[in-house]
Formats: sequence, structure tokens, C-alpha cells
Amino acid sequence: MSDVQSRGRRLFGPGTTVADLKAYMAPFVDRLGYKFNTEEAFVEEVLESELEILEETGDIYCPCRARTGDAKEDAKIVCPCIPFFRDQFAGLKKCWCGLFILEEIEDGGELLGVMEEPQGDVEVPAFLARDVAPGQIRHVKIGKRDVAVANVDGDFFALSNVCRHAFGPLGEGFMDEHVVMCPWHGWRYDVRDGTTDHPNADVRTYDVVVRDGAVFVVVGARAG
Ligand code: SF4
Ligand code: FES
Repeated sequence: MSDVQSRGRRLFGPGTTVADLKAYMAPFVDRLGYKFNTEEAFVEEVLESELEILEETGDIYCPCRARTGDAKEDAKIVCPCIPFFRDQFAGLKKCWCGLFILEEIEDGGELLGVMEEPQGDVEVPAFLARDVAPGQIRHVKIGKRDVAVANVDGDFFALSNVCRHAFGPLGEGFMDEHVVMCPWHGWRYDVRDGTTDHPNADVRTYDVVVRDGAVFVVVGARAG
């Protein structure tokens, strides 16, 4: 295993394997009353994603939550992030991704997170509502989807993060009431329905649910 101890937390380096992550995480989450999901293939898939993120960023950030670029903020979504979200996870009986489930759960098959291909609509946690203030918009990676979630006067709306002009990131755009302006060349989209003035260039939207202080984006297998 290639890793070093730093600030009391293990940092992993090149050559880290899924088995390394499992060996490190199991006793850690056990102390918190959690265990790995019983769906082993799903666990492997999530941990493989974490290894890809490790290679890209240098740390094992959560594969189902968006990083902000702020190191202090992003430290809360290094896996396992359970200590930061005890209340939310206790209610869900699992972590956001479903990588970990409460120890007493015998079958974690119903508690998979965003990494699986859902059969129907699935509510995917995006962020805590208090973290995105009115007038702000944020990019969220949900599996392979890039979604932008905006707060308009306390109401949350989700639309594709990808501008139809030249793929600019709408989650980094500028909000003006219910309109987001692409940061690259200024195309404007209504975050409520994804419409734009440009012909045949509307973007898709997603339903949003706010529950227990967390914002969830509703995605479905067939709807993509
Ligand atoms: S939500 Fe689950 S997989 Fe994601 S960082 Fe937290 S513990 Fe890890
Ligand atoms: S990429 Fe969005 S306006 Fe050009």
C-alpha cells in the first residue's frame, strides 16, 4: 500500500487498491455503527470510482457528491464522510452513495446510491440546502450526468450543466433571478424549464426535492 499519515488522516497515493480502501475504511465506519453495503459489486464500483478520483485529485473524494474547489469544504466529502452527516445518514440508513449502510441492515440492495442504474426515479443527494444561498448555482456530478442546481429565492431547480452552444458549464454561470447566464459566451437559460432564446437549444431539467435540510435531484434510468 502506498500511503502516508498526515494530520491524523491517512492519505493514499499511487498504487492504492480497492482492497487497501476496504481495509482502511471498515474499522473506521464500524466504530460509527456502519458497514459496507451488502451488494458487493456495487461496493467495488463505488471504490473504483474513488480510485479514479484519487488519481485525478490526490484524495478519495466522494463519487456521488460535487467538489466545490474549497479545500476546507471539500474535506467534508472525503470518504468516509459519515462524521459530517450523522443525522442525515441515520435517517436514510445509509451514506449518500449507499457505500455504507447501518450495521443492523441485512440487505442493502434497496439502499444503493447514485452509482447504480436505477430502475425508476431515484432521489440523489446533491448538497445541504444551507450550502447554496439564494442567487447561487452549483455543478453536481450524478453518475455520468452533469447537473447544475440553482437556488432561486429559496426554491431549488436543476438543469443540465452543459450549455448547448459550446458545452460551457452552466453551474459556473451567473444567476439573475430565474435565469442563468453561461459563463463562456452568455447564452441565457431559464433554470425552471431549461428554455433559452436560441432555437432547438433548450436543456433538460430535473425535479428537485428538499428534505431534512438536504437537496435531492430526481434522476431516472429511462429519462437519463
Ligand atoms: S457519501 Fe458514502 S461514499 Fe460518499 S464520501 Fe460519504 S461515506 Fe463515502
Ligand atoms: S458555451 Fe455557453 S454560451 Fe457559449
